[in-house]
Amino acid sequence: MASKPSIHRDQRLHRKDPLVEYRWKRTQCLKQNLMQGTKDKVIVITGASSGIGEATAVMLAERGAKVVLGARGLERLEGLARRIAGAGGEVAYAQTDVRKREDVTSLVNLACERYGKLDVLMNNAGIGPISPLDDLRVEDWENMIDINIKGVLYGIAAALPVFRKQGFGHFVNTASTAGITVHPNMAVYAGTKFAVRAISEGLRQEAGDKLRVTIISPGFVRTDFTESMTSPEMKAQIRDSMDKMAISPDAIARAIVFAIEQPADVDVGEIIVRPTAQG
Ligand SMILES: NC(=O)c1ccc[n+]([C@@H]2O[C@H](COP(=O)([O-])OP(=O)(O)OC[C@H]3O[C@@H](n4cnc5c(N)ncnc54)[C@H](OP(=O)(O)O)[C@@H]3O)[C@@H](O)[C@H]2O)c1
Repeated sequence: MASKPSIHRDQRLHRKDPLVEYRWKRTQCLKQNLMQGTKDKVIVITGASSGIGEATAVMLAERGAKVVLGARGLERLEGLARRIAGAGGEVAYAQTDVRKREDVTSLVNLACERYGKLDVLMNNAGIGPISPLDDLRVEDWENMIDINIKGVLYGIAAALPVFRKQGFGHFVNTASTAGITVHPNMAVYAGTKFAVRAISEGLRQEAGDKLRVTIISPGFVRTDFTESMTSPEMKAQIRDSMDKMAISPDAIARAIVFAIEQPADVDVGEIIVRPTAQG
């Protein structure tokens, strides 16, 4: 309450001097951008070494965010970090296997120690070795549960206490259109993505008025996603669909940037982005 009269007094003064008024307005704009946009936000991304995670990291860094990247493959992370830093971006990275809780905690700690805060955790690492249940590819089922569900939970466990302490923070969790509709051969993968959506919605409801939770549900996106598929038939089938209609990972990155750059009191709950041609 005490600051209100002085703002009005300032405005009256500024009206007398156009240059001062211009400078004052510009400062307010910059302040708003800093608070509401992506600039200077510290953003941890798991599964950042390729596909959707990589495209999002590049786009956010171009917009002034400080990105902290995690994935298992160190070489690809290093290459991406070099590219981002070479273009003038702020970047840190650490080899991270989201199946290990301590790895995910270390990645979040790296962001906090290097940059002093954490604005966004993008729980994006995921695999999709789909197959008919009759194939009994139990190891694939376990991997999907460990990476797609438990990896997200480890991310929440690492970042939630940080967000609570700070009084701000934003989870962006990558689900899938397979988390909205079930198709044959995708039962377990769909199950993991239904789980991501359920956990994210529960988290949103518990989060209170300071934390934000966004679910991003992509359709077919042109990435290395099929690499994790162990069934040759499924791999060929999904590659064929991807060749026919998959969209660029940039389309998903743009949606994520949109959610992140909203003002703090605007929580974009879920975004579905799929190819126009996807049924
Ligand atoms: N592409 C699509 O059509 C599509 C559609 C809907 C949803 N999605 C979802 O989008 C997310 C990203 O996938 P993408 O399409 O971008 O595929 P991608 O190109 O294969 O990227 C997957 C990323 O996750 C990382 N990753 C895999 N296992 C990991 C682990 N145990 N620990 C840490 N990182 C791990 C990979 O790096 P390393 O292998 O080096 O660890 C890679 O960086 C996934 O959650 C996926 O389910 C994709």
